[in-house]
Amino acid sequence: MIINNEVAMVTGAASGIGRALTYELAQRGAKAIGVVDLSDDVFNIADKINSRVGGQVALPFKGDVTAPDFRKAVYDQVCAAHGVVSICVPAAGLTRDALAVRLNKETGKAHMYEEETFRLVTEVDLIAPIYWALEAVARMAEYRHKHGKGRWDPAEGVQGTIIFIGSVSSQGNKGQIAYATSKAGLEGAAATMMKEAIFYGVRCGVIHPGFTDTPMVRALGEEFIEKYVLPDTQLGRLIRPEEIADAICFMITNSAVSGELWADAGWHPSAA
Ligand SMILES: NC(=O)c1ccc[n+]([C@@H]2O[C@H](COP(=O)([O-])OP(=O)(O)OC[C@H]3O[C@@H](n4cnc5c(N)ncnc54)[C@H](O)[C@@H]3O)[C@@H](O)[C@H]2O)c1
Repeated sequence: MIINNEVAMVTGAASGIGRALTYELAQRGAKAIGVVDLSDDVFNIADKINSRVGGQVALPFKGDVTAPDFRKAVYDQVCAAHGVVSICVPAAGLTRDALAVRLNKETGKAHMYEEETFRLVTEVDLIAPIYWALEAVARMAEYRHKHGKGRWDPAEGVQGTIIFIGSVSSQGNKGQIAYATSKAGLEGAAATMMKEAIFYGVRCGVIHPGFTDTPMVRALGEEFIEKYVLPDTQLGRLIRPEEIADAICFMITNSAVSGELWADAGWHPSAA
């Protein structure tokens, strides 16, 4: 699949990996990119991209990815202006780290990870990305039906690609019960979509980035990163968001790649 002239949707596009990917897609000639984020920065980033490529490629949308009405409105506007979305990378995400069970030695009481927080994390990191992806596939299905096309034929060429952003935490990580559950859950969703969405010519994959130099990771603090992150990576540094963006584009453009890609800089956490 060639990115040039395709219509893309990227959530979490105001920061980190989503932002780097948005720049990369524009650089590779995407016709239009829905640039979605909760942050006002989304407008600034769209402006920068548009002045860099010399056209109205990036279309900024500020809103909460967990809101179905917002999601539908964004797709309505992008599709009405530029046609069906063929690349979807729902990258918006957050962390709310805390031990699953923490014993207070003074009171002898054990505190469990807050259920409300668990719901928030899974809403943003699991359910929302799945529905932004399903929205793309649903619109592709409707578009094909409208144009008298049934089951996809490989001779047509790949019609679309969904890439979920998993994480090395999908294999389990201390303090990330809700985040790890969400990222592992995306693997199940992707595996199912890989089987279903190809009916409409849409591929689906998951990239699992290791610790990447974004505000999400910087929020851990320099000391934590130096002590607990870098020693467990083979590269001895954080991954650059541009490296993950490049890997995502590789997954989009190389249709022989299916399943999951680990872009983790050789992450080997200790067993302790
Ligand atoms: N940075 C890493 O090391 C790393 C590793 C593995 C996976 N990831 C995943 O990559 C993705 C991007 O993370 P990042 O590191 O670039 O983080 P980031 O914090 O730099 O960017 C995340 C963006 O998502 C947006 N966002 C959060 N909640 C939202 C909501 N409800 N609606 C709309 N936008 C919302 C934020 O405003 C922010 O701009 C996330 O899914 C994250 O879980 C990151």
